[in-house]
Amino acid sequence: MGKRAVIMAQPAENRVQRPPDVGVTMSEKISEKQLADLLAHYAVALEADLERWLVGPAAPAALAEAMRYCMLGGGKRIRPALVSMANAAVGGSSDDEMVARTGVAVELVHSYSLVHDDLPAMDNDVLRRGMPTAHVKFGEAMAILTGDALLTRAFGVLSETHDPRSAWLVAELAAGAGPAGMVAGQVADMDLCDIPAELAGTEYIHERKTAALIRSAVRMGAICGRADDEQMEAVSTYGLNLGMAYQAVDDLLDVVGTAETTGKTCGQDTRSEKRTIVAQLGLDGAKRLGRDLSDRAVAALASLGPAADELKLLAQLLAERTY
Ligand code: IPE
Ligand code: IPE
Ligand code: MG
Ligand code: MG
Ligand code: MG
Repeated sequence: MGKRAVIMAQPAENRVQRPPDVGVTMSEKISEKQLADLLAHYAVALEADLERWLVGPAAPAALAEAMRYCMLGGGKRIRPALVSMANAAVGGSSDDEMVARTGVAVELVHSYSLVHDDLPAMDNDVLRRGMPTAHVKFGEAMAILTGDALLTRAFGVLSETHDPRSAWLVAELAAGAGPAGMVAGQVADMDLCDIPAELAGTEYIHERKTAALIRSAVRMGAICGRADDEQMEAVSTYGLNLGMAYQAVDDLLDVVGTAETTGKTCGQDTRSEKRTIVAQLGLDGAKRLGRDLSDRAVAALASLGPAADELKLLAQLLAERTY
């Protein structure tokens, strides 16, 4: 399955068609295809798991429709892939319902964060995953409530089971997504709190708004795989560095990307005078930092051996991503 199927499998009337060539170099195209190939298998599995667990019983039809709109047929699905890869890296079984539930839960939380991030009171974006944002499509009140539903459903999916790992997974997700994690980063991104002087620039923001949930995704995969302390330490360091790299590239793509490649309105960060890595270090500096952080992520996995090869490859490919 190619990249288009992973990120652009949306209703035809909503889809932004990607022209054949949009200024992407040949080596970028090769790594883009490798990335799409690596993620495709996880994206397909996730889509089926979402069909099973997304809405839950007795939700109003209008809310279910909005939840499905925000969740199905789009997105790179990096976080569920990280859950599965981290589970495998520490020796976990791929045939484990808890891995599937965890991938769904993390993607639900991530997608809720995008719905709220796009709201007029926040980044005020009209395009997401190549489609109109939730508030454009359903109105602001329904978008807020859909975000609420996705967030709360995530914890239902993780806990509606008697699996003893459930409580630890719930705690990890709450920590990564909550007031000391992603929400803290979003509050700082919106300039609604002070930032410690030594972490000024983007470090405080990026570590929280993006790296916290990505780190939790790999830690949750490792919890599923019953990691020991050393393995948990390794994947945690990987997740933090990968998450920081991921936001560095996201900031870069806001400047050098296009709506066709990213499925988002580019140039928003500059227009909103956001604190970004590009504003801080320039384009080359941002690119270099993304690569350095990815190298650090890969180095952290040395003790895990070949079982962690997919995690390493993913970090390398994400540093070069164009979407
Ligand atoms: C975008 O995340 C927001 C960030 C935290 C950088 P993704 O780039 O993972 O978005 P999707 O899920 O692929 O749409
Ligand atoms: C978003 O960062 C981080 C979230 C927690 C959603 P951005 O605001 O840069 O993400 P995009 O560029 O809108 O996807
Ligand atoms: Mg934002
Ligand atoms: Mg945004
Ligand atoms: Mg961005």
